[in-house]
Amino acid sequence: MILAAGQGTRMKSPLPKVLHHAAGAPLVAWAIEAARDAGADDIVLVVGHAREAVIDAVRARFGDAVRFAIQTEQRGTADAVRAGMGAVRDDVTEVVITYGDVPCVPAEALAQLSALRASQKALLSLITTEVDDPTGYGRIIRDGRGRPVAIREHKDCTPEERKVRSVNPGLYAVDRAFLALALGSISSDNAQGEFYLTDLVALAARASKDGAVAELPWEAASLRGVNDRAELAAVEATLYARIADRHRRAGSTLGAGCFIDRDVTLEPGATLGPGVVLRGRTRVAAGASIDVGCVLEDAVIASGATLKPYCVVTKSEVGVAASIGPFAHLRPESVVEQGAHVGNFVELKKTRLGPGAKANHLAYLGDGVVGAKANIGAGTIFCNYDGFQKHTTTIGEGAFIGSNSSLVAPITIGRDAYVGSGSVVTKDVPDEALAVGRARQENKLGYGARLRARLTAAKQALLSAATPPKPGQ
Ligand code: UD1
Ligand code: CA
Repeated sequence: MILAAGQGTRMKSPLPKVLHHAAGAPLVAWAIEAARDAGADDIVLVVGHAREAVIDAVRARFGDAVRFAIQTEQRGTADAVRAGMGAVRDDVTEVVITYGDVPCVPAEALAQLSALRASQKALLSLITTEVDDPTGYGRIIRDGRGRPVAIREHKDCTPEERKVRSVNPGLYAVDRAFLALALGSISSDNAQGEFYLTDLVALAARASKDGAVAELPWEAASLRGVNDRAELAAVEATLYARIADRHRRAGSTLGAGCFIDRDVTLEPGATLGPGVVLRGRTRVAAGASIDVGCVLEDAVIASGATLKPYCVVTKSEVGVAASIGPFAHLRPESVVEQGAHVGNFVELKKTRLGPGAKANHLAYLGDGVVGAKANIGAGTIFCNYDGFQKHTTTIGEGAFIGSNSSLVAPITIGRDAYVGSGSVVTKDVPDEALAVGRARQENKLGYGARLRARLTAAKQALLSAATPPKPGQ
């Protein structure tokens, strides 16, 4: 059961807190994935504030794998769990409770929490942690033998209890029957007038003296919650570092300052230079090399592909042993096929560059289909837009487009055809033909010298007209 009904006022955001992203996924998705990976067979999300938005986002990502319970008014964590119990399946015997705004909790912490409760036959197991500054946390209150017997909320603590640095991060595994019973006896008689879920610990400790409460100590960094955007940045840094570490250990090379989102697939054996950002559902095959500063979103990079520094690739593919950049821009629905080359300052939009084709310098290829081994000269423009509609440019295999040509779409350039440099091509070009769409060059012999003499004389006349006569003349 994941609690996510709170408002998150300190985010100062119109977006519900749990939908803020960290490392490419909403906070709540991290919590759900952890529960799923820990083996939870039924996941209930308790929603309240901005619930429509939260439910929509979770459904979009998880389909029917998550069920929802609604807490209409946020009256405390015990009230939230009470709301959630209505959605818990009858056959469930243990409820593991976590928060939707604590994204770094590893699945293994949840799994161990549940396993510990089982092995100690406890009513309840909880994670505890030590922090330098316990302000705001519930403190772990212990008996003479050091066993947890209660949690005291910060605002209800005596000055002495406030010094306790062993705190409650808010994760519990609870026997279902005990939980259902105990929730009925929790009151809101405390400093905040809320129903505290933390009262469960004292209730369990009282219900049976020995082994009623099991404790799983865990390191604090994984248990950090998000209350404001500074804390969001801190947990995101933890998540990015963890993802990078995982890929490095799996056998990929990552330079400093790479940011790889959670849903990215990076096959072991890829090489990323410093500052590479991989977003969304990007997939990178083994043996691909992505150099400094490339930013990829929902991209597919095949094995042996090379991305030179500072390429931007969005919803596009780079094929086996193809090469792009530096400074190439692949906009959505572009495909650079096997062995093709895209050079600096070349932009592709919804364009397929066939195997071995080249567009090496300063070109715009929009809505195009370029055949194998065609060569697109520097400065070529596919004029794909007439102000109303987009049109297709088709270039045959082995065609050669001379530099600085404009191909006005819709247009087809035939197989092995040539387009003369500087042409504006408005009519289809047959296979093997040469198209020249520019004024024919004419050389006027001696014209340079004549022109220079005429211009010199004209400037001289202008200067003497402007000089005032000397005095006495
Ligand atoms: C809670 C714990 C505290 C612990 C701290 C760790 C209680 C009483 N206290 O305090 O011991 O140290 O978490 O962060 O449980 N929520 C709801 N509905 C509600 C209230 C809260 O869904 O009515 C959800 C929030 O969205 C949030 C989580 O529960 O995800 C924790 O709520 P919050 O108000 O932050 O609890 P704390 O006061 O921080
Ligand atoms: Ca909190």
